Amino acid sequence: MREKLEALLTAAAAELAQVGSEESLQELRVKYLGKKGELTSVMKGLGSLTPEERPLVGQIVNKVKGELESKIEAASLQIRERLKAEKLRSERLDVTLPGRRQPVGTRHPISIITEEISGIFAGLGFQVAEGPEIEHDFYNFEALNFPKDHPARDMQDTFFISDTLLLRTHTSPVQVRTMLKQPPPVRIIAPGTVYRCDSDATHSPMFHQIEGLMVDKGITFGDLKGILTNFINQLFGSGTGVRLRPSFFPFTEPSAEVDIACVICKGKGCRVCKNTGWLEILGAGMVDPEVYRHVNYDAELYTGFAFGMGIERIAMLKYGISDMRLLFENDLRFLKQF
Ligand code: FA5
Ligand code: MG
Repeated sequence: MREKLEALLTAAAAELAQVGSEESLQELRVKYLGKKGELTSVMKGLGSLTPEERPLVGQIVNKVKGELESKIEAASLQIRERLKAEKLRSERLDVTLPGRRQPVGTRHPISIITEEISGIFAGLGFQVAEGPEIEHDFYNFEALNFPKDHPARDMQDTFFISDTLLLRTHTSPVQVRTMLKQPPPVRIIAPGTVYRCDSDATHSPMFHQIEGLMVDKGITFGDLKGILTNFINQLFGSGTGVRLRPSFFPFTEPSAEVDIACVICKGKGCRVCKNTGWLEILGAGMVDPEVYRHVNYDAELYTGFAFGMGIERIAMLKYGISDMRLLFENDLRFLKQF
């Protein structure tokens, strides 16, 4: 019996040396120490021994059992240590590596200019108004005194959606919407996106305008000139030359186009201003009484002025951008400069 037990211990030790995982270790534990295990069946044979032999052999059995148990425990510990070391190795982090920076965006030059211009007009008491980009013919043309079949509609190459719906070609419809909503006095600006079937280095099919409208008793052309000159001096620097040229818009009378002294050559004449020394930045005029009729304002009592400027054009002048399309190509090397 003693030899049997020693052989059993030797066999178990040999098997233990081969064990590589917790699962096979568990199998081995069952094989030797389980209810139907080999050591257990040896212990069942104790009954056939004489009373004198029994305690002696029993002692050996217990010793073998204890040894087997501690060997298994040691093997188990070894396996766990090894697994832990493997895990640490595979999950190793190099804490000295520099972190990966989250790329931070920059404001788009159009947003920067829009905010700057809105800020200047806020300082002059103007509030921001808004209107939809998909607009009714009525607000975009009709109420602004572009009668149907009037050739002036061709001045703005319109994207029509249906007979009566279109993509607004300018921010002027916000004038109409605002006056229909509130009685005078009115003092608003309306920045927004507009669309025209037009595309080259200085024209984009989608671009931005800022509209302005001021209506009250006793507003004159002098107020128009004063407000716009003040605005231009704030945006382009004090002392910037300003010039008004007669022009035509169906919804203003009289109308003017406003030029500033060329920001590149300071009025001497260069390629940018086509040697005129001046750059056009906006259209303006006194609100035509025909518009007041459409919004039920009393043209005998109230007068006012309106203006509209292209934001891309102003951004190009302020930042010296030569091609408008750069503003919409979303090249980060370009956008990061602002
Ligand atoms: C208008 O759109 C009038 N609504 C402006 C106005 C408002 C006049 C209130 C009087 C009273 P115009 O079509 O000229 O006018 O356009 C105004 C500005 O928009 C131009 O000076 C130019 O800076 C800009 N613009 C026009 N077409 C384009 C285009 N395709 N791409 C970029 N900017 C453009
Ligand atoms: Mg024009």
